[in-house]
Amino acid sequence: MVDLIVGLQWGDEGKGKIVDLVAKNYDIVIRSQGGHNAGHTVVVNGKKYALHLLPSGVLNPNATNVIGNGVVVYPKQLIKEINSFGHDIKKKLLVSDKAHMILDHHIAIDQAREKLRGKNAIGTTGRGIGPAYADKIARVGVRMGELKNIDKLIDKLTHYYEMNKGYFDYLGVKIPSAEDLRAELQEWQDELGELIVNTTNYLWDNMDKNMLLEGAQATLLDIDHGTYPYVTSSNTIASGALTGSGIAPKNLNKVIGIAKAYTTRVGNGPFPTEDFGEAGDKIREQGGEYGTTTGRPRRCGWFDVVAARYAVTLNGCDEVAIMKLDVLDGFDKVKVCVGYEIDGKKIDYFPSELDEVKPVYVELDGWNGSARVTKWEDLPENAQKYIEFIEENIDTKIKYVSTGAERNATVIR
Ligand code: IMP
Repeated sequence: MVDLIVGLQWGDEGKGKIVDLVAKNYDIVIRSQGGHNAGHTVVVNGKKYALHLLPSGVLNPNATNVIGNGVVVYPKQLIKEINSFGHDIKKKLLVSDKAHMILDHHIAIDQAREKLRGKNAIGTTGRGIGPAYADKIARVGVRMGELKNIDKLIDKLTHYYEMNKGYFDYLGVKIPSAEDLRAELQEWQDELGELIVNTTNYLWDNMDKNMLLEGAQATLLDIDHGTYPYVTSSNTIASGALTGSGIAPKNLNKVIGIAKAYTTRVGNGPFPTEDFGEAGDKIREQGGEYGTTTGRPRRCGWFDVVAARYAVTLNGCDEVAIMKLDVLDGFDKVKVCVGYEIDGKKIDYFPSELDEVKPVYVELDGWNGSARVTKWEDLPENAQKYIEFIEENIDTKIKYVSTGAERNATVIR
């Protein structure tokens, strides 16, 4: 049985908390796309861990963690995360031999191109994600499995560096010396070699177990269906998780979509419900909306049911979790976007171009008291009405309402 967790907005919805909450139910937790551009902080027994590349199942001692073929792996980061958790987690960690590697030059290209784009920068995390995926699609990438034959890999990379010399010089991207390259690849093989396997076969052999596909980034950052070009370079939606793991669609049991009770975005690109005034600032401060990976302040605004309905449909969500409801405590009114206006015309669907879109809002009453409760009946009446309003508009059951950072600060309906 395979369940899937996917973000419904522009990322940072709090997927990590729901994964953490439900991880004990799963034998295998799988990352299937993205790389160390993702990030969440988890606290276990009072110690803080920053997870970027490792699946969240590392917090569950019984779960096996799989980094699937669709992920782009920066080996240095993987080694760093393994070291911060302790080598014991290696016993429960597998990395796909088909996963592509991020090398230092991908990171340098990402950062150099962002600089050259100037005001049109995408606002990437600068982790080399786009250039690594570009090489994969151009069929010149290198895969984790190639660490098994370092001589052959060095030949391939030397040729690749030669072919790209003009471009690298233009961007000011340095290539490593042959000795440094060999030493680094050897270290990666020594540290990670035993983990690199055909994870597709592993997953097929374990289809009788309970598996969780853990999405990274989110629907509106999907390379095909998001707000292109202000997106990440992978398919972040449910179907991308299947490609990125080798699991067939018929094995999917349940899709859980995660959305915040409001909306945030990091990086550039259209965001119709962004609030540039006091409300946006208040959400940012009350919600602690600063990036885990880059520390950037997040852009903040109101819940957008048009975007959420689009995301729920794209992913085929069976149920939804609404996160951080308590952040909206203390607002007299809360706004929800129920439609868009383009050139004076109203639409109720998510268009392919979001640039010229203006939001159409309804205003609901805020609530007195706090949503920091653990039972539905203890939520202030207007907070209940807010959730019910969203539920009706997205036509999907809201099963979880998160009301605080702690694992138990969750209303399960
Ligand atoms: P990249 O994935 O680093 O190429 O960045 C592309 C866009 O996706 C930028 O707007 C990033 O801010 C955004 N992004 C990438 N990863 C995450 C994430 O985990 N959470 C939120 N936004 C992300």
